[in-house]
Amino acid sequence: MTMISRRTFMLAATAAGALAVAGVAIAQVPKLEQKDTYKVGFAQTESNNPWRIAQTNSMKAEAEKLGYQLVYTDAAGSAAKQVADVNSMIAQGVDVIFLAPREEKPLIPAVMAAKKAGIPVILLDRSVDPSLAKAGEDYLTFIGSNFVEEGRRIAEWLVKNANGKSKIIELEGTTGSSPANDRKKGFDEAIQAAGGFEIVASQTGDFARDKGRQVAEALLQAHPDADIIYAHNDEMAMGAIAALEAAGKVPGKDVLVLSIDGGKEAVQAVVDGKIAAVVECNPRFGPKAFETMLRYAKGETIEPMIINDDKFYDASNAAAELADAY
Ligand code: AHR
Repeated sequence: MTMISRRTFMLAATAAGALAVAGVAIAQVPKLEQKDTYKVGFAQTESNNPWRIAQTNSMKAEAEKLGYQLVYTDAAGSAAKQVADVNSMIAQGVDVIFLAPREEKPLIPAVMAAKKAGIPVILLDRSVDPSLAKAGEDYLTFIGSNFVEEGRRIAEWLVKNANGKSKIIELEGTTGSSPANDRKKGFDEAIQAAGGFEIVASQTGDFARDKGRQVAEALLQAHPDADIIYAHNDEMAMGAIAALEAAGKVPGKDVLVLSIDGGKEAVQAVVDGKIAAVVECNPRFGPKAFETMLRYAKGETIEPMIINDDKFYDASNAAAELADAY
């Protein structure tokens, strides 16, 4: 370090120290050292569906390929447990934390605790409330799909292919999660802009198959004329198909079912004519997540959002794409 740069560094360090003492937040993501190997945390939300399992497998496979130690936790659907999981990773001295935040607000303390402990956080697939934590300041970046776009794409397909059907039941994802908020926003805005449709009911099924089935059952009883079901994920779409069949209705004929995720079971349901269309939400995060971490360690500037490419499945391509679906 030259005299000038040492002086500059000392002044900067003193200023940062004074700000920290004064309780003013420092707008900087902690640095990541370049090393031969890393101890990496991955705080998963839950493992109750094929999408989560595919995401976890992709992260584990990439960590293993690179020879890194992965500290993996499963919050089992509890935001409080996920905060505790992140705190435990901090205590174990991980170098970086990959976090798939269950809900937008409750995970803010975890992001801030990691920042305070000098550990960079990379958000995977779900985001946190942007008014409370920011990419490039509180966490490094968000890697995942554009959920608003996913909702918009399925709505645009519906507008072109509804064939006179118009009354929609919407099965929302976990309340307070970014995919539930954004998939609703993208879909509802596009449907309203198109005109001629009515969302007769919109209720959470918590991204879960059985809850989706129960909610679909109750909403189909309350709205027997509903002829479209839009589910925010495959699990709830499969639950809705079970509810339709139990009610003596034929999915794909009496009621169009639309979904997001694109797991193998749902793509097979498109081939079978039970689901009309699915927007993929790509769960294969491993390569991009670790590549981003290493680019950061090298000193590269990281974009605040890194968006995954998602496919689209309907009757025109589902059979050909089935083998590649996760
Ligand atoms: O955050 C992505 C969503 O979370 C997937 O659509 C869903 O299946 C998962 O639980």
